[in-house]
Amino acid sequence: MIFDESFTLSNGITIPRLALGTWLIEDGIVSDAVQNAVKIGYRHIDTAQAYENERGVGEGIRKSGIPREQIFVTSKVAAELKSYEAAAASIDKSLMTSGLDYFDLMIIHCPQPWSEYHRADCPYRYPEENRQVWKALEEACQAGKIKAIGVSNFLECDIENILTDCKIKPMVNQILINITNTPAELISYCQKQNIITEAYSPIAHGAALNNPVLAAAAEAYGVSIPQLCIRYAWQLDLVVLPKTANPEHMKNNADLNFVISDSDMQILKNFDKISPGQIPAFSGN
Ligand SMILES: NC(=O)c1ccc[n+]([C@@H]2O[C@H](COP(=O)([O-])OP(=O)(O)OC[C@H]3O[C@@H](n4cnc5c(N)ncnc54)[C@H](OP(=O)(O)O)[C@@H]3O)[C@@H](O)[C@H]2O)c1
Repeated sequence: MIFDESFTLSNGITIPRLALGTWLIEDGIVSDAVQNAVKIGYRHIDTAQAYENERGVGEGIRKSGIPREQIFVTSKVAAELKSYEAAAASIDKSLMTSGLDYFDLMIIHCPQPWSEYHRADCPYRYPEENRQVWKALEEACQAGKIKAIGVSNFLECDIENILTDCKIKPMVNQILINITNTPAELISYCQKQNIITEAYSPIAHGAALNNPVLAAAAEAYGVSIPQLCIRYAWQLDLVVLPKTANPEHMKNNADLNFVISDSDMQILKNFDKISPGQIPAFSGN
């Protein structure tokens, strides 16, 4: 069963490989989405302070009828919080808002505030500040408020910065990975550091749905484009976090009982080199 597939983090905690992403699922409806996902079999839910839906996620988990310890819940310290005090207070607030006794995983959402992320004229990567936020995460972990800690959107240099002065090494890096964006060197660096990589936006935030190359590849395998996208990240040995509030889509996204051939994986890894109008012949087996 796909829902039983998991990795083991460096501290021995088990993390289910398929998660429900909840970005842009509003607080008022996310409880139902979480309950539906749990009913279907999902055991890993990804939220964040910035999503403003931690309350509904906590409610959905309580109402799911499944014991809390059987569901893995991730939240994230907001990208803008760059001091020890602000991060520590935010973790307590997330616990209070969600009504959960602990998070299974809490990660730093981004090395830079969002207003600076992706801006070439903002090269400052908040090294001292991120070490302070990391200290808050370490202390919350030692206090039992969080079972595991990690980072998101961190490059190798950002991780090295944490490693220079940490008591607990990052266990997870959650990064943008999909067929249009495969950062192979960063994935390989994380593997060497024993950091589990999670693929966010595996369907390219919905953009993959209209892509003719992906439509051809999905057709060759007799699957939907989201299934192809999720299976691609799965075969890269990642945790995968597709988002949907639609139960039919949740089921479809968990139906991954097919294998993308090595040759087709190679084509998809080099997706950005395929010129428009040239749809490759996918083997489909
Ligand atoms: N750490 C970070 O900085 C970061 C950044 C972005 C995302 N994330 C995490 O990653 C999760 C996923 O990324 P994402 O929200 O950007 O988007 P995504 O999962 O790449 O794509 C979501 C889109 O695909 C559609 N979709 C999903 N399954 C489908 C299916 N079976 N058939 C048809 N359409 C389908 C959804 O529509 P419907 O809702 O209508 O199904 C939605 O429009 C987020 O929710 C969040 O948890 C983290």
